[in-house]
Amino acid sequence: MATSEFARLPGFRDFPPEDFALRSHVQESWRRVSRRYGFLEYDGPPLEPLELYVEKSGEEIVGQLYNFVDKGDRAIAMRPEMTPSLARILGDRSRGMSKPIRWFSMPQLFRYERQQRGRLREHFQWNVDIVGEDGVAADAEVLAVAIDGLRELGLSAADFAARVSDRRLLSALLRVVGVTEDRLPAAFAVIDKIERLPGEKAAELLRSEARLDPEQIATLHDMLDTRGLDDLAARFGDHAEVAPELQRMREYVETLEAMGLGPYVTVDLRIVRGLAYYTGIVFELFDRKGELRAICGGGRYDRLLELVGGEPLPAVGFGMGDVVLGELLADRGLVPQYERSVDYFIVPVTPEQRPEALRIAHVLRDRGHGVVYALRDQAVGRQMKAAAKEGAQTVLLLGPDDVARGCVVARDMSTGEERDIPLSELA
Ligand code: HAM
Repeated sequence: MATSEFARLPGFRDFPPEDFALRSHVQESWRRVSRRYGFLEYDGPPLEPLELYVEKSGEEIVGQLYNFVDKGDRAIAMRPEMTPSLARILGDRSRGMSKPIRWFSMPQLFRYERQQRGRLREHFQWNVDIVGEDGVAADAEVLAVAIDGLRELGLSAADFAARVSDRRLLSALLRVVGVTEDRLPAAFAVIDKIERLPGEKAAELLRSEARLDPEQIATLHDMLDTRGLDDLAARFGDHAEVAPELQRMREYVETLEAMGLGPYVTVDLRIVRGLAYYTGIVFELFDRKGELRAICGGGRYDRLLELVGGEPLPAVGFGMGDVVLGELLADRGLVPQYERSVDYFIVPVTPEQRPEALRIAHVLRDRGHGVVYALRDQAVGRQMKAAAKEGAQTVLLLGPDDVARGCVVARDMSTGEERDIPLSELA
């Protein structure tokens, strides 16, 4: 049967050991950084009620759902993101928990996306969330975790940056520009896509969707192009509803600067985020060269827990995917070389030593060492070749004479040095 009859589904990955090694390397780094910040690991089921996403996550993600009706007539979705699951899980138990809650997870997620670079139909996503704290210190803390997750993998401020904004600040500024309350969501949707739209198309949408005239559109562009908080304050800070929003943003940026992470952070009002539930500060991490899609996205969502029926708790967090990150690591030469390695390879010189070899292998494994040997009788030369292929650090040679004098010969595979080990040490 031709293997192509069972080709992998488009947008899905296999993880043979050489690729699994990178996945482990990334996930172990994420886990280390999470723990350094005092986060606890959790998980949930990969299937959820379809309803959990409808209206809460927004149209874009709902349009990408893998969903089906199960044998009990339930409408089911494969989880496309973790945040609604987190809200659901906490909804059942948060009342008895001390706040803030610091939880992290690394689920595999599924989205029926259009195939493009950096976007697949499954990915692993590091989720880090703080629940039960509404101050900017929590917003700064989660962004610091995201930045450190990338620093842990060897990336620096020369490789990536966080673009940060606040939906409350953007709303205040849009009102100044003249966007009416009922048109704010439409304006957000256009701004979210504005970098990917041709200028004329953006202007047309701002006219038709946000009901802006050409002068207002020019002011809006001007505003979106303004980077520093000082410039924004100088231009728009006199408006009563903008000033406190700018002040909060300033406090957020200063908190990150105090951590020494200032070089990683840029205020950028074009960051809106596509998901519907965000209510405050939002951010995305991008490669500096601007070649890749977002590596990470997150923000504050203060109403989602209540929306799914739980305790009304403020929350902030992010998701970082492994796909774009893998591309960035490869581009920067930061993918560790894949090497097989095992502590010991045991070589019985003749079949008579095999029982003794099995005994020693088991003793060493009980002591926590990795041990391999040939699974059938073979000449010593072939066994030595196999030992090299397995990446054995040490080969234990069991010749009839060695065993008779009560020892095995240990050969260090990197230096070639040999020494005797008394069998009594391997009892
Ligand atoms: P998101 O922006 O949809 O946010 O996804 C976060 C990250 O997951 C993206 O920046 C990207 O790295 C990765 N990602 C998303 N879709 C794909 C895909 N199809 N293929 C490969 N990578 C992908 C969320 O999911 C929010 N729930 C994050 C969050 C957690 N907000 C608060 N807490």
